[in-house]
Amino acid sequence: MAAETVVIDRYGVMGYPVSHSRSPVIHRLFALQTQQNMQYELLQVSPEKLETAVRQFQRTGGKGLNITVPHKQEVAKLADLLSDRARKAGAVNTLTFQDSGISGDNTDGIGLLRDLVVNLGLNLEGANILILGAGGSTRGIVGPLLEMQPASLRIANRSLGKAEDLVEHFDSPAALSACRFNAVPATDAYDLVINATSAGLQGDTPPYPAAAITENTFCYDLSYGLTPTPFSVWAREAGAPRSVMGWGMLVEQAAESFHIWRGVRPDTAPVLKQMSITA
Ligand code: ATR
Repeated sequence: MAAETVVIDRYGVMGYPVSHSRSPVIHRLFALQTQQNMQYELLQVSPEKLETAVRQFQRTGGKGLNITVPHKQEVAKLADLLSDRARKAGAVNTLTFQDSGISGDNTDGIGLLRDLVVNLGLNLEGANILILGAGGSTRGIVGPLLEMQPASLRIANRSLGKAEDLVEHFDSPAALSACRFNAVPATDAYDLVINATSAGLQGDTPPYPAAAITENTFCYDLSYGLTPTPFSVWAREAGAPRSVMGWGMLVEQAAESFHIWRGVRPDTAPVLKQMSITA
């Protein structure tokens, strides 16, 4: 009798740099929890090799990829089909390889909202929100945040042009505006300040606007680390009562990608806990 062959499906995360990524651990925990036969690799790929690497992963039987810094916008061009939320974001963090082609989706926004609203209990309706940064990560979260009907959503960035382009990309709704870091009005009282720059990855702390922080401001860093990120440290020093790193978003967006790939939704709470995360 022939031995039964166990098929192990291949997934991975592509980025540059990518060694900091905890996605492999999270997906392994999800796979264990839901008993899926899959493996998940860490793939460091420079921008000029992105297309070749994606196509090779697909050709050699890969089933899906997460895409991270700095490829989220560029990789959208490789998808044959984009989900609504990926098209609106103009950025992709999840690729699925099917016989019919490559599908691109963006689970960053829903991941962030699940963490902010469900895990952390924030009410975003009528809130004043400031996002620092105007790259691929910001593109992924602006649409979903606007759907929560905040009173205002301001994007502050080192280069003003990129922030203005984003406002235009989202059809310039009244609530959305752009400015430089040093032009955030000192009179604005923000309920939520989100760091979506990649500056912390290089250990940088840009001149974030301290005037945006009051004793009521909740700070959230899309980046995460085993020790406080440069933005978290800055936020505490600027007087924010709560400063949370993006572990919850990371786990929630991963759960959404996992659901797209495997058709099962893992329970995120034990995974978040198992990673010894403190909010
Ligand atoms: P991601 O996908 O993480 O958003 P990205 O698309 O490369 O990555 O965007 C990086 C963002 O971080 C941009 O907003 C970038 O600012 P610029 O548009 O001015 O380049 C911001 N960023 C990166 N390093 C920074 C630094 N040292 N100081 C300030 N902003 C920085």
